[in-house]
Amino acid sequence: MNVLLIGSGGREHALAWKLAQSPLLDTLFIAPGNPGTAQIGRNVPVDALNIPMVIEVAQRERIGLVVVGPEAPLAAGLADACLRAGIPVFGPTAAAARIESSKAFAKRLMIDARIPTAEARIFDDPDAAVEFVRSSGRVWVVKADGLAAGKGVIVPETVSETVDAIRLLGATRAGARLLLEERLSGPEVSLIALCDGERALPLILAQDHKRLRDGDAGPNTGGMGAYAPALHLTFSDVAGLTASIILPTLRALAAAGSPFRGALYAGLMLTEHGPRVLEFNARFGDPEAQAILPLLQGDLLAALLACAGKGELRDGMVHWNGYTAACVVLAAEGYPDTPRRGDVIDGIDAVTDPHVSIFHAGTAWENNQLVTAGGRVLGVTGIGASLREALTRAYAAIDLIHFRGMHYRRDIGARAIQ
Ligand code: AMP
Ligand code: GLY
Repeated sequence: MNVLLIGSGGREHALAWKLAQSPLLDTLFIAPGNPGTAQIGRNVPVDALNIPMVIEVAQRERIGLVVVGPEAPLAAGLADACLRAGIPVFGPTAAAARIESSKAFAKRLMIDARIPTAEARIFDDPDAAVEFVRSSGRVWVVKADGLAAGKGVIVPETVSETVDAIRLLGATRAGARLLLEERLSGPEVSLIALCDGERALPLILAQDHKRLRDGDAGPNTGGMGAYAPALHLTFSDVAGLTASIILPTLRALAAAGSPFRGALYAGLMLTEHGPRVLEFNARFGDPEAQAILPLLQGDLLAALLACAGKGELRDGMVHWNGYTAACVVLAAEGYPDTPRRGDVIDGIDAVTDPHVSIFHAGTAWENNQLVTAGGRVLGVTGIGASLREALTRAYAAIDLIHFRGMHYRRDIGARAIQ
């Protein structure tokens, strides 16, 4: 079968690498892909948001499954267009993807379905939100309702910072509607489940590192690194979280007429009162996928096809190789605000450790040289018998790689091994 994978980040390189191991696969096409995916399948120079062109490519190349990586094409209706054209697709319709594309929609659904989440207020008018914050005299986490590429959440320290955050996010397109959320604390984990609209196959838990700098300092980013399995919880807890969070969400979406087929991602905070959902995503996490997929055994393509209604989603479809994985993101100078492009990347070929995978994200070929072309440039994943071993391998590989302005966190997973 031919498969068309949509996206161009590290998550998509990791998905491409795993899908390529499937005995069901003939040719993998990636739109638009990156220099890493080009080594695995055929990159097609089509923008992920150009839905008519994506459908044209899918029809021309006799695609048996479209796998959608990022959220923007899902919110724009790419899965709906595939279904209209009769092409099986892994990824939810725009209506089901509202679980990510509207935080107000997700919050209401969680309250109605009694899914544990932070208390929140929803405002269509920033002035009313400011007034509410002043009269409450408390700090609130401020969230833009819409998609904001990881920049839609501000966690203030003071009431006046809360007001500034409302002004800042309220002036953005995604922030036409705002959520004020009670501030929770505790370790965070990402739970991702493969879903067929009704059933869920949970993957192992991963822990992302969202802040830019060591010690969880600096602004939020798309994610600077991840490790899996997250050490806070065991496999039996995953089953409990699936029962209390993922399955009720699937039931609520199905009852609303928009069953969710795809990767449902719950961003959880493990508070002293139990797990709480901070956000849902309608896709695999990035960089979480770069840590989870190297540990996955079994035929990922068969599982994704089952989610798309081609076959039956069964518990034994994926299992784990027993290793721990750590992914460290190498970012470009200026990330996350204004990443610089065009810096030559050296040293990737010097990495020969078979326990290390280098996933491309923001890279490009220019004048026969591999150069930086985005904020998160590479994801370097090491696997090992322990988290410490995985980290040692990832950081040893990073020592061989260089580009001007390269920066990364040196403390991925550090809290878990202290
Ligand atoms: P989100 O995109 O909603 O996951 O938010 C991004 C990050 O902001 C999360 O990973 C948390 O670190 C932080 N965050 C979000 N909501 C809360 C909350 N209610 N309390 C404390 N931190 C939060
Ligand atoms: N790493 C967080 C996300 O994919 O949204």
